[in-house]
Amino acid sequence: MEDRSSAAGGVRIWTLVFDLVGEKVNKFSKKVMTDFEPIVAELEAAGKAGSIDALMVVSGKPGNFIAGADIEMIRAVETAQEGVSLSKSGHALLNRWEDLPFPTIAAIDGATLGGGCEMALACSAIVMSNNPAAKIGLPEVMLGLIPGMGGCIRLPRKVGLATALDMILTGKNLNAERAFKGGLIEAALPREEFETSALSWVKANLKALGDGKRLAKEPKLGGMGGAVGTMMEKTPLGRALIFRKAREGVLSQTKGHYPAPLEALAVIQGTGTGYGARFRGAEREKAMNREAEGFGKLAVTEVSKNLIRLFFLTEGLKKSNGLPPGRDVKVSEVHSAAVLGAGVMGGGIAQLFAEKEIPTRMKDLNTKALSLGVEAASKIFQKQVKKRKITKRQFLQKLNRIAPVLDYSGFETGDIVVEAVIENMEIKQKVFRELEDHVKPDCLIATNTSSLSVSKMQSVMKKPERFVGMHFFNPVHRMPLIEVIRGDKTADEAVASLFEFSKKIGKMPIVVKDAPGFLVNRLLLPYLNEATYLLSEGVPVQEIDRVLLGFGMPMGPMELIDEVGVDVGEKVAHILHDAFGPRAEPSTLNAKVLGAGMLGKKNGRGFYVYAGKKKEFDPKLYEVIGVTPRPHAHSDQEVLERCVLPMINEASRCLDEGVVATASDVDLGMIMGTGFPPFRGGLLRYADSLGARQVVERLRFYQERFGARFEPAPGMIRRADASEKFHSR
Ligand SMILES: NC(=O)c1ccc[n+]([C@@H]2O[C@H](COP(=O)([O-])OP(=O)(O)OC[C@H]3O[C@@H](n4cnc5c(N)ncnc54)[C@H](O)[C@@H]3O)[C@@H](O)[C@H]2O)c1
Repeated sequence: MEDRSSAAGGVRIWTLVFDLVGEKVNKFSKKVMTDFEPIVAELEAAGKAGSIDALMVVSGKPGNFIAGADIEMIRAVETAQEGVSLSKSGHALLNRWEDLPFPTIAAIDGATLGGGCEMALACSAIVMSNNPAAKIGLPEVMLGLIPGMGGCIRLPRKVGLATALDMILTGKNLNAERAFKGGLIEAALPREEFETSALSWVKANLKALGDGKRLAKEPKLGGMGGAVGTMMEKTPLGRALIFRKAREGVLSQTKGHYPAPLEALAVIQGTGTGYGARFRGAEREKAMNREAEGFGKLAVTEVSKNLIRLFFLTEGLKKSNGLPPGRDVKVSEVHSAAVLGAGVMGGGIAQLFAEKEIPTRMKDLNTKALSLGVEAASKIFQKQVKKRKITKRQFLQKLNRIAPVLDYSGFETGDIVVEAVIENMEIKQKVFRELEDHVKPDCLIATNTSSLSVSKMQSVMKKPERFVGMHFFNPVHRMPLIEVIRGDKTADEAVASLFEFSKKIGKMPIVVKDAPGFLVNRLLLPYLNEATYLLSEGVPVQEIDRVLLGFGMPMGPMELIDEVGVDVGEKVAHILHDAFGPRAEPSTLNAKVLGAGMLGKKNGRGFYVYAGKKKEFDPKLYEVIGVTPRPHAHSDQEVLERCVLPMINEASRCLDEGVVATASDVDLGMIMGTGFPPFRGGLLRYADSLGARQVVERLRFYQERFGARFEPAPGMIRRADASEKFHSR
């Protein structure tokens, strides 16, 4: 931190520059907190001496004001008491900051999150630039925590309960325009010459700031403003209603799996904070102590530890190139692209590329197919217009980046071609032979196959080393995972280039060996398959889904089969059966549903019946599959174990066969590719919480009843015998 005083026109406005030496972003670490103390003391002295009129805080890091508390510091918390003390030390510092006897102004031109936002809230005013990188918010719930430096107390005071709850319970952040509208910041200023205009703003408003006047817009209380809104927030009955609704909203979103938003609600409700509430002295201390208690309690929960681990996993991804540690190669950049096939996936991939400002050619066999692809992309952009995320003009600009074509014209300049034609080896090989004559020598070529061998496809190519699998998940714009599949002849350069490109388009890549089902489908299939076995034994469809939803999966397995397509599921099940034999034997039930022409969501009938957005269960299904439903035929525990344990068992095989390099790859793949509950930390983190010995014991128990499907993998037995975990820390 350095401090630049500026005495202009007789006004003594000091500027404090927050610039953490040796770090990319500013954050509140233990050391920063310690170093901050003497600065606060100096400011207190200057205030007493009357030698300062105002203080403006800026950041020395472009694009970042203060990113929040140091998460390593939170990760290290081992007891609730430690968490409480950590929070209290933050409170002590920011309370002194809030009490400085002159106006303090946070001038924000970058990310201002968590502790950064809390520091800004302890200032007399916040001015913010319209730089797209400038955003402000309290994302602590995403890490299973609540704001612990006064955010739960100060935010509702400034913006009212409705806006504060919306921000704290969801962790969303706001840009300058929205922060201004919500009354969170006092001014939104142009990003050009930001510090100069911020200083001018401070000078122009010095008197009002000194008088403690509210300069921010009045917030819309109760989410609607006006007398009714005020009544909602200011009367005990209205407030009770707001908290009840918020609680219902949280429970329907989290199904009770995430304790942090509920604790945030309890803190905010229990401390009586709200719009305009006055907090100083003992009252403030009491409220802050309640927040500290909540923070400490949450910091040691398994949920928070798992979410923090996940945070570090995704951070680790940013630094990785997809190759073994220490292996560095030249990566080729992608500026323009082409997609082969304008179907469900091709259209989605083209839309994603266009979204990321990459000009993209999209080729198909006829204009009808092409127009379907363009229409699919257009629908996604239109939704963004509707949600006011983009303007109509931006919509047109984005859509125009997709050039539909019937031949290879323009392919010669593309940096990457992603193939997404139908899932047929002969057709794909033919397409690649043809394609190679139309692209430049260093063009990356990728296939989006979900089940065919990348090595086999590459075997017909003249330059197989630049060929790699790029397995997207459906729907492309929503699913964050990409499996980067390395074929026998794929070069490191191609793997690293595709890995980088996947990150550039906002996805999370994991590198996977070319083996049947790759990683995610190979693990998911035993899960879906077992669900159909359970159904064939009479466990009702909704009961199976209820148990897995209760476990935290985003949708139950029966609904998921409908979503993927009963036909697709059946096809992949047989591919895996051919590859892995008896342990992957498909139940015959899926085939019966398919035989009745029920394909799932795509034709409105599968395990459920679909009409528009509505999903219903039709008991006629039982006649079609010849099953008599027997509610509670098996215990919930059995339903859960039979679906989840085979995934763990198969994952241990994948690790031992080198399908992926680490247990973290499995966890990231399952969370990002299937929505496996993040609060459980991933499939193998969950396995570790059970212990290998228990996993093997339960597998053996089911093996006795059902045979090969539950035979413990050798690596699983080894881990159980050695009491070994999948994760070492
Ligand atoms: N649908 C999924 O959920 C999903 C998920 C991941 C991967 N995949 C894979 O993506 C690929 C495409 O799947 P989809 O669901 O989009 O299929 P789709 O049937 O919706 O689309 C395939 C498109 O390819 C076109 N096509 C066929 N031959 C072509 C050729 N020679 N040149 C150009 N276009 C040609 C077809 O006209 C059609 O428009 C498959 O390999 C599939 O395994 C699908």
